[in-house]
Amino acid sequence: MSKSILLLLGGALVLAPLAIAGRAPQQDAAAPPAASQTPQPAPAPAAGGIPADTKNPVRPTAAGMAKAKELYAIDCAMCHGDNGNGKTDLATSMAITPADFSDIKMMNAIPDGEMFNIIRVGKGKMPGEDPARAKDAEVWNLVTYVRSFSNPAVAVPVPEKAAAHSTGRRSR
Ligand code: HEC
Repeated sequence: MSKSILLLLGGALVLAPLAIAGRAPQQDAAAPPAASQTPQPAPAPAAGGIPADTKNPVRPTAAGMAKAKELYAIDCAMCHGDNGNGKTDLATSMAITPADFSDIKMMNAIPDGEMFNIIRVGKGKMPGEDPARAKDAEVWNLVTYVRSFSNPAVAVPVPEKAAAHSTGRRSR
């Protein structure tokens, strides 16, 4: 390497921080006033819930799926049926026609976040699942459980350790 290139490089190294320092005040001047720097609320949730395009962050575990099955049997099956097809006596008497959970096309048309919202908030004649009854992770497991009627592979448990790692916390 020639001496002049080394000098150029050296000069760039010295000048770079100066250039950054020189730009900093300008950025400050362009920044919005302090008042608007207070924490902003999360992006507007859809219909009292989370954004519809939110991906299910909870991976299935044996314990999580067992709990989801139990919740489903008590809180959902009377309307949606043990097999998820929605053809129940209660649905008939309430004159409701819930989707057939075993119809994969129908289920794929409902994004994870929207399904979370429907289960958490409710929809039409369907009541929402109270947070005291099902934590967020449990609602996500219900989303997985509901999807398993049309696609059993989604509910195949991953080892507890892998699941805890993937969500950054232990599943409850
Ligand atoms: C009282 C009856 C009832 C109960 C209980 C109920 N649902 Fe529903 N559910 C419905 C009806 C009716 C719809 C359709 C709502 C609409 O589109 O207006 C629905 C819609 C859904 C949908 C969206 C697919 C669709 O049909 O549009 C999902 C997913 C769902 N329910 C899951 C659940 C889960 C999980 C539970 C239990 C935690 C549950 N539901 C409890 C009646 C019920």
